[in-house]
Amino acid sequence: MDVISIIRTKRDRGELSGEQIDWVIDAYTRGAVADEQMSALAMAILLNGMNRGEIARWTAAMIASGERMDFSSLARPTADKHSTGGVGDKITLPLAPLVAACGAAVPQLSGRGLGHTGGTLDKLESIPGWRALLSNEEMLNVLNDAGSVICAAGDGLAPADKKLYALRDVTGTVEAIPLIASSIMSKKIAEGTGSLVLDVKVGTGAFMKTLDDARELASTMVGLGTDHGVRTVALLTDMSTPLGLTAGNALEVRESVEVLAGGGPADVVDLTLALAREMLAAAGLPDADPAKALADGSAMDVWRRMIAAQGGDPDADLPVARETHVVTAPASGVLTRLDAYDVGVAAWRLGAGRARKEDPVQAGAGVSLHAKPGDSVVAGQPLLTLHTDTPERFEYALKSLEGAYDVAPAGTEFSARPIVLERVSA
Ligand code: URA
Repeated sequence: MDVISIIRTKRDRGELSGEQIDWVIDAYTRGAVADEQMSALAMAILLNGMNRGEIARWTAAMIASGERMDFSSLARPTADKHSTGGVGDKITLPLAPLVAACGAAVPQLSGRGLGHTGGTLDKLESIPGWRALLSNEEMLNVLNDAGSVICAAGDGLAPADKKLYALRDVTGTVEAIPLIASSIMSKKIAEGTGSLVLDVKVGTGAFMKTLDDARELASTMVGLGTDHGVRTVALLTDMSTPLGLTAGNALEVRESVEVLAGGGPADVVDLTLALAREMLAAAGLPDADPAKALADGSAMDVWRRMIAAQGGDPDADLPVARETHVVTAPASGVLTRLDAYDVGVAAWRLGAGRARKEDPVQAGAGVSLHAKPGDSVVAGQPLLTLHTDTPERFEYALKSLEGAYDVAPAGTEFSARPIVLERVSA
């Protein structure tokens, strides 16, 4: 095998053989294929695509690059969910304990923020003492003790994806459906969950901007999961405006705790419940009632146990940014648009995300929303509050908000996009 002929095959729109795929993934993981060669291949895949057979083999090779976890010793069925990434997407935080409170075990391997999208681990790390890095044994202990665990994937799980993902991030090759599908599904299949619900985001704040692309990504991932014996369904959900009223790490933890306490913004509650119902059905628990588990405090009990089991103090005060800046409504009327991508970039620039992989994030930084599309606003009222420890960031963050919202005259018809747009199953 030689990598140059593999790159040429894909460059010239050919189909890669199974042996070529197995070899290139293994050689890249071992360091025998260089980053510049893999980035050329990733770009050829982005431009020319892969067929379903190639994607399945690529995914299998990434799974085979590392270990596979096994939760078959647990007494409960396992269920996991994965979001393709969005702005204000804190759903994993209330969802994992909620589904555990309803009887499933939830082994939730999560990631850090990427670009303008937030990361579950960055959010949870704003809780004093909380640890993202657990050994496999610790992960199993938290799962047995609390019913759910949210932690970082260990180095042994799909190491090919770890390398390739970091490479794609800096070579403009993130947005390729075959590469996104194989990246997500290799980790989820290697993790060993019995069932999986995918939250495929669609809209300006998502990697998939159109319903057609989101549908294709969802059906590719559902097919991969099903072929590997994981009961997999996907919901296509709206990411044209931020989820809830916050984007930023500690800000989103606070909002998630409100949801677990029976309150919180309607869109966050609705999506949490929709995903919980799908996870419970896929795990063989269709009669469980997640709305009851939110209302009666049992989901909150699991949250507190899970946070404490990972070293966190569920009662600790969360960090607050040192400085704030308020953006006001330019006119009176109806807020008809508040763009998810622009708000995500603002939160990122305020310090909630990183410019380079190794940068720290600010726990208190981010954006809080005082109105959502469809709400009436009055000229001069607060529309957004920006939070940061480093006020020199305000100017750059404000630039990303120029053109981020529209206010139409009072009485303008506004029809809200439903939060769940479509469901894709095998
Ligand atoms: N999340 C992943 O894990 N991989 C991708 O490629 C995109 C989002």
